[in-house]
Amino acid sequence: MTETASAPEAFTASEPASPSAPDSAPVVFPQNRTCPYDPAPGYDPVRATGQPVQRVEIYDGTEVWMVSGLAEARALLADQRLSNARERPDFPVFQQRLEGVERRRVELLGVDDPEHNVQRRKLIPSFTLKRTASLRPAIQEIVDRLLDAMEELPEPATDLVGAFALPVPSMVICALLGVPYEDHEFFEEQSRLLLRGRGREEVEAARDALDAYLGDLVDRKRAPVTEADSSLPVGLLDDMIGAFDDRAELVNIAGILLIAGHETTANMIALGTYTLLEHPEQLAGFTADDADVPAACEELLRFLSIADGMTRLATEDIKVGGVTIRAGEAVVLATSLINRDPAAFEEPNKLDVARGERHLAFGFGIHQCLGQNLARAEMEIALSTLFRRLPGLRLGAPADQIPCKPGDTIQGLPELPVVW
Ligand code: HEM
Repeated sequence: MTETASAPEAFTASEPASPSAPDSAPVVFPQNRTCPYDPAPGYDPVRATGQPVQRVEIYDGTEVWMVSGLAEARALLADQRLSNARERPDFPVFQQRLEGVERRRVELLGVDDPEHNVQRRKLIPSFTLKRTASLRPAIQEIVDRLLDAMEELPEPATDLVGAFALPVPSMVICALLGVPYEDHEFFEEQSRLLLRGRGREEVEAARDALDAYLGDLVDRKRAPVTEADSSLPVGLLDDMIGAFDDRAELVNIAGILLIAGHETTANMIALGTYTLLEHPEQLAGFTADDADVPAACEELLRFLSIADGMTRLATEDIKVGGVTIRAGEAVVLATSLINRDPAAFEEPNKLDVARGERHLAFGFGIHQCLGQNLARAEMEIALSTLFRRLPGLRLGAPADQIPCKPGDTIQGLPELPVVW
């Protein structure tokens, strides 16, 4: 029995009578998508109620609140009575395998204000719009080099994830942080196991391996000049050594930046490509001479909602969307439903690259994505250059035979066969 499961009575006291999905069987979060760009059909009963906040279950039968309304999600994410402190014993964990890594202190993302603010302010200068704009030429060069290599392949066919979608953000975050890209296979694999490992042991081992790697890198970078390894690339990590006194805090934040920096954007590039190829009329709009590429990327972020499930814990009673979330109750904010809220978006299930509306794909409030400017720059450059350089790009397998990642992780495609 887990700690979450041992406190079911905490979820029975809410008033008024808790709205929940009307189906006889309760909806369980998370659910697998069947179409890689649409919300999981398992959430249909939740959408059918039209209730912006309602109860669902998690793997161990515990009830949690699921938020599917945009206005309610914004209100909650701006509310300091919702905590993101992962080490709280009652903080929700949505898969058993993540119990070991989630219920422990996670810096930045898993810290509440005012402590969070102190950490975030040290990092903000490296992620401003201006700073990110200065990285655009380097991102373009990386994208061009990877496409040159694709064009030189003996056959015009490859897995786009391995050849392009993953290396672009991985190379960019390595250059930004000052992490040697030669080590990418190691940290990409640990990151994969951390997010999608088969069991608790595999997940914890990956976390420890990544911490050990980054700890060693930090030590090598801060060694006295005479002993320092001059072959190491210099970057944000070097600046962070001066800004963070605590080694464990520094290593933890470096790990978050390294993982968040490549896993998420890689999924957006691969899934964005798949989605545009599956919507030829929208692809035509995206590749037109007068295309508004930034607006199209915003729409892809809304439509795909790859970070589908932000979690929080109420520390006080909160009235929202016609219900009262009681202190101690867990909340999951399902971005795939929030970003298709019919109360906020006209024809929410339609991909429209000219829409250009605000969404919640990067979260909201104090934890809103720190790397969003970087992610946008990478998506814009990667997708527009890909379709310009390879205008004949198409799927290398029937669309319905390309599997998607399971619902309990960042959404995307493990592989994307393409030809051109
Ligand atoms: C398209 C790609 C990306 C998506 C969809 C995405 C999504 C998100 C979301 C939804 C959150 C908020 C989580 C929450 O409130 O629980 C978040 C936070 C965060 N993201 Fe991203 N992200 C992306 C790319 C990046 C990149 C490239 C970086 C670069 C390093 C990054 C670094 C972070 C960090 C550090 C946080 C925590 C911020 C804080 O707690 O103050 N992300 N991201």
